[in-house]
Amino acid sequence: MAEQLTIPQTDDRAELYATLSPQIEALVALESDPVANMANVASVLREAFGFFWVGFYRVVGNELVLGPFQGSVACSRIGYGKGVCGTAWKKASTQIVADVDAFPGHIACSSASRSEIVVPIFDRSGKTVVAVLDIDSDRLNDFSEIDAVNLENLLKKIGNRLQ
Ligand code: SME
Repeated sequence: MAEQLTIPQTDDRAELYATLSPQIEALVALESDPVANMANVASVLREAFGFFWVGFYRVVGNELVLGPFQGSVACSRIGYGKGVCGTAWKKASTQIVADVDAFPGHIACSSASRSEIVVPIFDRSGKTVVAVLDIDSDRLNDFSEIDAVNLENLLKKIGNRLQ
């Protein structure tokens, strides 16, 4: 399936999301296993955008536990309200961090990570966070509302295939 994806050669993020989102929806529609789907979504996003690290953390009890990801080894457990990921879980809202060194409590999995976006994934009620998508960039200030809106929309559409 992956070889059938069309990834435009452009730096225009809005265009990339517009082209990729329907393809990602189609990709996960074919598979019911959430781990397989998280793995493929992480792969597509990293390949298309060239992000430094893309992955999922799932809510397991009172912690986030590392799920499928693309990139270097990451910390496997994050507490509620801890770091950018734990904050996105606690606040149930997308967190954009332009400079990770300026974020109090940022959990540094790699010193190469400079900015970060974390988007929560909700259960079917739309109220409870069941996982987060974490994307790290090796460039400062690499994420904007364009990323937030597009990733939130994508995860709303495919969230039920990731849990
Ligand atoms: N920086 C994240 C931890 C996860 S790694 O970046 C993959 C955080 O502060 O929550």
